[in-house]
Amino acid sequence: MKVNIKTPQEIEKMRIAGRLASEVLDYITPFVKPGVSTNELNTLCHNYMVDVQKTIPAPLNYAPPGHTPFPKSICTSINKQICHGIPSEKKLKNGDIVNIDITVISDGYHGDTSRMFYVGEPSIQAKRLCELTYEAMWRGIDEIKAGKHLGDIGNAIQKLAEGVGYSVVKEFCGHGIGKNFHEEPQVVHYGRRRTGIQLEAGMIFTVEPMINAGKAAIRSLPDGWTTTTKDNSLSAQWEHTILVTEDGYEVLTLSAAAPAKPKYHF
Ligand code: MF3
Ligand code: CO
Ligand code: CO
Repeated sequence: MKVNIKTPQEIEKMRIAGRLASEVLDYITPFVKPGVSTNELNTLCHNYMVDVQKTIPAPLNYAPPGHTPFPKSICTSINKQICHGIPSEKKLKNGDIVNIDITVISDGYHGDTSRMFYVGEPSIQAKRLCELTYEAMWRGIDEIKAGKHLGDIGNAIQKLAEGVGYSVVKEFCGHGIGKNFHEEPQVVHYGRRRTGIQLEAGMIFTVEPMINAGKAAIRSLPDGWTTTTKDNSLSAQWEHTILVTEDGYEVLTLSAAAPAKPKYHF
């Protein structure tokens, strides 16, 4: 249960890994169109990571205890899929929303980030869910500063989501990250202010809320990885990797085409 504090040398490597992960999302953006299969997106991202960036796709063969090895290099979670969707021959169609989650290993350190993409034109409801989830992630991030508590992050996210009648997925959370893909602490996306551990400068973790338009309950598919909403409602997720600083935070997973921090309007 010990959260490791990164050294300045490690932080520099995490900045590079974070930027590279975000650049994979920049690279894949123009390919996310009706008719493309998620396998094609996987192959494009894989080749970009391995051949262009010289990074390692962390999901490929990732096998935490109790899991079969993840068979692909990226996660693609469509519509009611919450997270850990496995790329397949299935083609994206107009109106789908898809989360693409990228984790690279660069010089031994991980960068982890995901965005939502609209395939063609989204429905008004789908767009609202994606925008609210983006704002929820940022409201959580905005709580981060040395001395604040983990519960401050989760509380900000939960308040926003539940305030409009959406729900927060409880089974998956943000996580410390560094030499390991997943390490302490667990960053849950719900909770009470001033609870949980206190943040310290040099901690690095992800904030990656999964918000369902319907109820919070999840279903796990027999493929051993994909999780969907139980009520078949739409789900959205965004993810950044964040460094805690004395005065606040530094978002490590930024790049030229990363969406800007939103104006808060929910
Ligand atoms: N990138 C995911 C996260 O944000 C984890 C994916 S694990 C995988 O924590 F094996 F499904 F790739
Ligand atoms: Co993550
Ligand atoms: Co991720």
